[in-house]
Amino acid sequence: MKTQYFTATSLDGFIATEDDSLDWLFPLGDINDTSYPDFISGVGALAMGSTTYEWMLRNAQAVAAETGSAWPYSQPTWVFSTRALPAVPGANLSFVQGDVRPVHSEMCEAAAGKNIWIVGGGDLAGQFYDAGLLNEIIVQVGSVTLGKGKPLFPRRLSSASLALASVRQVGTGFAELRYQVST
Ligand SMILES: NC(=O)c1ccc[n+]([C@@H]2O[C@H](COP(=O)([O-])OP(=O)(O)OC[C@H]3O[C@@H](n4cnc5c(N)ncnc54)[C@H](OP(=O)(O)O)[C@@H]3O)[C@@H](O)[C@H]2O)c1
Repeated sequence: MKTQYFTATSLDGFIATEDDSLDWLFPLGDINDTSYPDFISGVGALAMGSTTYEWMLRNAQAVAAETGSAWPYSQPTWVFSTRALPAVPGANLSFVQGDVRPVHSEMCEAAAGKNIWIVGGGDLAGQFYDAGLLNEIIVQVGSVTLGKGKPLFPRRLSSASLALASVRQVGTGFAELRYQVST
C-alpha cells in the first residue's frame, strides 16, 4: 500500500493556470496512453483540496462527456476544505479539514490494502509529505510551459529524498516520471 501523488504538470512546474484552468493539458495526449489506467486500478482511496474539487464541480458536464459520469471515481474520496461545499450526488465523499494524519489513517482503512491517491493540489501533497506519509510522486510532464500558475509541489526536497524510479515517453506530449520519496 502506497500513498501516491499522481498528477500532470507543465514543463515549468505548474499543475493549473493561476485561474485554475486545465485547458492546456487536454491537447497534450490521451490519458489512456499514460500509466493512468493501470494506476487507478490500484487506488483504494482519494484525497483532494477544495480547488481541485471545485474544478470537478465546475466542469461536471465535460467530465461526464469524457468519462460517462460527473464523478468518475468509484473509490471513497476525502475533500479538504474549511468551507461547506456542495456534494456530488452518488459520490462517496467525506469533507475534512486540518491535520492530514488522522485522515490518512481513515483512508488506509477504507483502501483495504490498495493505494492512496493524493490528487492535488501541490500543497496538499506537501502536507502528506510533511507528515512523512508520501511514498511516490508520479508526474506526467507536459510539453508546454505556463509561465505561472498553481505549483506542482511547493516544498523543498533534497536529492537524497527523491529517487527517480522510471522514465517513459508518452507520444510527443508527455514524459512520465516516477519518483520514490523517502521521508
Ligand atoms: N494537472 C493536473 O493533473 C491536476 C491535478 C490536480 C489538480 N489540478 C488543478 O490544480 C489546481 C490546484 O489548486 P490548489 O493549488 O489551490 O490546491 P487544492 O489542494 O486543490 O486546493 C487548496 C485549498 O484546499 C483547502 N485545503 C487544503 N488543505 C487543507 C487542510 N489541511 N484543511 C482544510 N482545508 C484545506 C483550502 O481551501 P478552503 O479551506 O478555502 O476550502 C486550500 O486553499 C486546481 O485548479 C486543480 O483543478 C490539476
